[in-house]
Amino acid sequence: MNTPPPSFRDITVAERVAATGIDEAMIEALVRTFYGKIREDAVLGPVFGAAITDWEPHLRKMMDFWSSVALLTERYDGRPLPVHVRLDIGAEHFDRWLGLFTETAAEVCTPAAARFFTDRAHSIANSFRMGIGVVKGDRAAG
Ligand code: HEM
Repeated sequence: MNTPPPSFRDITVAERVAATGIDEAMIEALVRTFYGKIREDAVLGPVFGAAITDWEPHLRKMMDFWSSVALLTERYDGRPLPVHVRLDIGAEHFDRWLGLFTETAAEVCTPAAARFFTDRAHSIANSFRMGIGVVKGDRAAG
């Protein structure tokens, strides 16, 4: 049998991995270190503490999420916006989340990978803020 030609997806992922060094071990370190900080945080700790009792499944889900974003593995197929619409969160939570995420990415990733994750986090956070603003008025967008 002939080997199929590499798909657009294979090429995209191969180029991203070559440019950034992102792999599953880096994603695991990012997720575990980030949520370790979140749990200790005065602003975000209580929000997560109220929603999550069993942390390991949440961490696994977030590894699947970032693996799907960065390596296009399609392991995450949830719908995160409704989850965040249900939470009582506003601009202060998003700013803190992004601050801690950026700090963690700089600590555990290569600089190019940190740029990639931080860029994606900002655009996803913006889409959540807009989505929450549409549903609830503009507290989260402010
Ligand atoms: C204000 C900032 C944020 C807060 C307070 C927050 C909080 C939470 C909480 C508490 C959960 C778990 C909900 C549950 O299982 O009941 C969750 C799930 C999740 N969060 Fe966030 N989050 C924030 C921002 C973000 C951002 C910026 C991203 C993406 C870059 C993100 C991605 C996700 C995903 C993928 C899930 C899993 C949703 C699912 O169950 O399929 N979150 N978040």
